[in-house]
Amino acid sequence: MDEQAPPPPDLDPTRASPARVYDYLLGGKEHLEADRRAAHAMRNVVPEVGEIAKDNRSFLRRGVSYLVREAGIRQILDIGSGLPGEGNVNELAQAIDSDVRVAYVDNDPVVLAHARALLATDDQTGVVTGDLRRPATIFEAVAGQRLLDLDEPFAVLLSGVVHHLSDDDAPDRVVATVREHLSPGSHLLLSHFLDDDEPRAAALERAFLHGGLGSGRFRTWADLRGYFDGLELVEPGLVYANDWRPDALTATESPVRTLYAAGVGRKA
Ligand SMILES: C[S@@+](CC[C@H](N)C(=O)[O-])C[C@H]1O[C@@H](n2cnc3c(N)ncnc32)[C@H](O)[C@@H]1O
Repeated sequence: MDEQAPPPPDLDPTRASPARVYDYLLGGKEHLEADRRAAHAMRNVVPEVGEIAKDNRSFLRRGVSYLVREAGIRQILDIGSGLPGEGNVNELAQAIDSDVRVAYVDNDPVVLAHARALLATDDQTGVVTGDLRRPATIFEAVAGQRLLDLDEPFAVLLSGVVHHLSDDDAPDRVVATVREHLSPGSHLLLSHFLDDDEPRAAALERAFLHGGLGSGRFRTWADLRGYFDGLELVEPGLVYANDWRPDALTATESPVRTLYAAGVGRKA
């Protein structure tokens, strides 16, 4: 892996960013013309692409609820946390148990500024600048911040972020490094674009990569299973995101359910 710090996303307003395109697809307000253009290139090939973003948020809500309510997690490291919006991780987790501490990590200066202003408003919630392509550096910075005790069980959230790493970024090595940093009893939640061998996945990947955003890989079940190597998969395992412990709010009939997968693993 490159020892040099990779550059953060461009502040150039003529270039789309993953956080703002996602915000646009979710119906938020933090987006620019370049983001909307990139999103429209995606909609041209899969008109319901916005449902993937919504399905991901729904999985994240259920996953955080499981981690805090059932797995007893009280510390969360959310890497690639995104722009604050509805149902932020610290709000979801602290509504279940007010003792939960959350460290948010992102590499996008716009995300970091919003997170510092809107989320890190109490001493249970912090924000760290970090790039997933340099995972060891993230753990060093989080340990230095002293909000989370990384010797105790914690959960790492990699929700909708690993697919923004290119193959050259060696995502399997990146996620392996994340797993190495998990203490016993810790959990990894991961969700990702899925290439389940259907033409829409390939077409949408082309739109992500070449339609203005420049990132968004659709990977196979085998690729995604590798991210959980050595962890015990929590039931029901690695599945279409909407099949992961669906509740009354889950869009079980989503037209894009086969384009997105998710799972939660536990380190013994
Ligand atoms: C699609 S959003 C997901 C937001 C949130 N995790 C969720 O699931 O709703 C992806 C986020 O990952 C961040 N991101 C992309 N590449 C990253 C990297 N190499 N390191 C850290 N964050 C990254 C983007 O800035 C963006 O905020």
